[in-house]
Amino acid sequence: MCAVRTVPPSTLELLSRVPLFSSLDAEHLRTILRTGKERDFSPGGEIVRAGDRGIGFYLLLSGGVEVRRESAVLARLGPGEFFGEMALFDDQARSADVVAVRPTRCLVLSPWEFWSAVGKDPVVLRALLRETVRRLRGPHGSLSE
Ligand code: CMP
Repeated sequence: MCAVRTVPPSTLELLSRVPLFSSLDAEHLRTILRTGKERDFSPGGEIVRAGDRGIGFYLLLSGGVEVRRESAVLARLGPGEFFGEMALFDDQARSADVVAVRPTRCLVLSPWEFWSAVGKDPVVLRALLRETVRRLRGPHGSLSE
């Protein structure tokens, strides 16, 4: 028999406040929550390693992470923010390490789950692209190092 996974209202509420998903209705958000998998990471736990082949999109439900390249901290991300979108776009290696700095819970979507859940929504795609470009531009707004 196939068990139906119910979605806790608190997680749904949290997802409804995620700016990336602001254009999606509750039914759509429920689908995302049902298809994704929640994973927990302890402080110091490496979630994504630079150079690895990437296979997931991560949405932070709680806690916090640092995005690091070599010894530099590129960004600190918290609940409602996401990472892992770059390898999802181009199917290439991860561009940075992402390490939990607090007890952290993520919703993880495989590429297939991600593209089928939001790939047809132009508003989500634009928001995703806008944030990715911001990250690629870097702190000075240009593409130079
Ligand atoms: P990806 O390359 O798949 O895996 C590492 C992730 O770190 C990357 O996707 C982005 O989500 C994130 N990342 C890389 N560079 C930055 C940056 N400058 N600011 C914020 N996040 C970043």
